[in-house]
Amino acid sequence: MNIFITGVSRGLGKELAVHYTELGHKVFGFSRSLPEHPDGIAEILFASGNFGHYAGSVNNDADIYAAVGEAVKFMGSIDALINNAAYKNFKMPDEITAEEYKESVQTNLTAPILICNKIIPLLIKNGGGKIINLSSNAGMVSYAGGTAYCPPKAGLINYSRCLAKFLKDKNISVNAISPPTFSTGDYRRTNPEINHGRLLQSEKIIRLTDYLLFGKKFITGKNFPVFRFKTWLKYYYYKQFELFEYLFQSRLK
Ligand SMILES: NC(=O)c1ccc[n+]([C@@H]2O[C@H](COP(=O)([O-])OP(=O)(O)OC[C@H]3O[C@@H](n4cnc5c(N)ncnc54)[C@H](OP(=O)(O)O)[C@@H]3O)[C@@H](O)[C@H]2O)c1
Repeated sequence: MNIFITGVSRGLGKELAVHYTELGHKVFGFSRSLPEHPDGIAEILFASGNFGHYAGSVNNDADIYAAVGEAVKFMGSIDALINNAAYKNFKMPDEITAEEYKESVQTNLTAPILICNKIIPLLIKNGGGKIINLSSNAGMVSYAGGTAYCPPKAGLINYSRCLAKFLKDKNISVNAISPPTFSTGDYRRTNPEINHGRLLQSEKIIRLTDYLLFGKKFITGKNFPVFRFKTWLKYYYYKQFELFEYLFQSRLK
């Protein structure tokens, strides 16, 4: 399979790139910088012959155009797109600048939409394909420091559902993945003081991308929260509680 992945320089995107090139698939990565850690990882990826890369910003139309063009040159075609690049800014509304708000909406919502628009005609030409948009549970919950990050991530979930409806007859699946905070090799390296055992591990997300890319069943228009069981129970309980509270209050009136 020929897979186009954004945000491959670190974190989950880099792990996805390593995983799929090791499995023998072709991967084309798009990020401003190359994968860095451990030293020599980029060279190992390139030496496999299965990895190509374009250094540029997903927020620049000319870079999107060039990256997709280079990807087709390198892989011949594109079968799957994983929109993974993200801008994380959790500042409070009174600290965050207008530019930072714009960058958050641009990187987390507008860029994935524009990249889909560029790649969809290629998937249609191929007779089908898979699109996976990395959202976040921040797209489903709310907190004071989330005014920049949560809204575009929520938008990405609903965008994926709309696009899935548009593409339902074209054999192109579109799904969103919305994990809570998770641990990656890079996160463990840069934040050793955190108890990573308590966090969701990136391997679980990769298992889900495997399922969405290679599973036999055609699944589209879904959002996968990938909660750990305990978190899921808490979320479910909280949602029920909100509903009960509403029903109770409306009875009092
Ligand atoms: N980590 C978590 O706990 C968590 C939880 C829920 C959801 N998620 C979502 O999961 C995905 C992966 O998260 P992560 O923590 O692994 O990400 P990360 O470590 O923060 O890495 C972000 C990636 O996006 C790239 N990127 C950022 N701005 C870009 C731009 N303008 N143009 C091109 N590339 C750009 C970065 O590369 P360059 O800087 O080299 O360009 C980097 O490779 C994201 O969509 C994130 O929102 C993460």
